[in-house]
Amino acid sequence: MEYTTLGRTGLRVSVAGLGCGGFSQLGRGTGKSEADATLIIHEALDLGVNLFDTAAAYGTEPVLGKALRSVPREKVVICTKAPFGVSSPNSTPESAVASLDRSLKQLGTDYIDVYQLHGIAPRVYDHAVEALAPALLRERDKGKFRHLGITETAPGDPEHEMAQRACPDGVWDVVMFAFHMMHQNARASVFPLTQQHRVGTLMMFAVRNIFSRPDRLAATLRELAADGEVPQALADSPEPLGFLVHKGGASSVIDAAYRFVRHEPGADVVLFGTGDHEHLRSNIASILKPPLPEADQARLATLFGHLVGVGLDAPHLSRSGRVVNR
Ligand SMILES: NC(=O)c1ccc[n+]([C@@H]2O[C@H](COP(=O)([O-])OP(=O)(O)OC[C@H]3O[C@@H](n4cnc5c(N)ncnc54)[C@H](OP(=O)(O)O)[C@@H]3O)[C@@H](O)[C@H]2O)c1
Repeated sequence: MEYTTLGRTGLRVSVAGLGCGGFSQLGRGTGKSEADATLIIHEALDLGVNLFDTAAAYGTEPVLGKALRSVPREKVVICTKAPFGVSSPNSTPESAVASLDRSLKQLGTDYIDVYQLHGIAPRVYDHAVEALAPALLRERDKGKFRHLGITETAPGDPEHEMAQRACPDGVWDVVMFAFHMMHQNARASVFPLTQQHRVGTLMMFAVRNIFSRPDRLAATLRELAADGEVPQALADSPEPLGFLVHKGGASSVIDAAYRFVRHEPGADVVLFGTGDHEHLRSNIASILKPPLPEADQARLATLFGHLVGVGLDAPHLSRSGRVVNR
């Protein structure tokens, strides 16, 4: 594993971080057991992953907390998030503090390394920074967490409006935002700000469905070609991103996707979500490989550099909170 410093937090973190949400939710989203999820967390630890990202909304705080109990607390960086409702303009600072206390309990820990407001849309950002952050920072000063972070709602904020406001505000030590091969606009709009203000970056959506499900990629390219956004020949190709896979290049489209994000200047941690041991191992291996060849990077910029908001699908939850893969 390789380690880096998470912006001004000073935390030493693995460049590959295990995401405990997304469609996979450590495999819980696709029906795997808590014991299976525990094995995934333990294998990630064995491979040197020390950063874990969960959230009240994922339902994986308890399994993560239990699985990490075998490790000295200071050896891992636990990131979690307040429930979505906390960011509603009608919510109170007291409810944010109550959520923080619940997360501490669910995780079975005395402190959280990075406590984040989850999926903050631009329209609720003022409430987040003016009402919620001051109350939470008082709790930070009591030792309940170390650093305050914020995550964007990628599907609802494809231009990263919230992240651009958050970086200079000096309140958020860590920002999580979406960046991938077909949604590259953070390169110009967010990374310069995170670097200027030394805000730590957690990268999400490196692969998601668009690169893990060939049918989704094909459907997306058909739509984009119909809108004149990508060449029709690309949409017609049986392997539209096959040009990335060659000797000296990537071993698969997913390998390319993780390497693309990992080597973006300013990207600290690439989050990856999985409930599958083979995926876990190959994703970490990809994240540790060198950058994609320059010619491939240039082709990705030419083909997709202008696209905004592609492949940012949110999980659909059933009434019981289970992920329904639609
Ligand atoms: N607003 C927010 O705060 C927010 C939003 C989104 C995500 N996040 C965070 O970011 C993390 C990562 O996002 P993500 O879950 O979308 O991760 P991702 O790594 O972009 O995509 C993971 C998806 O691809 C599949 N996959 C992973 N590796 C694969 C491989 N080698 N081959 C084939 N399929 C593979 C996974 O299913 P398998 O289980 O089959 O591997 C899963 O469905 C989340 O867990 C969460 O912590 C936060």
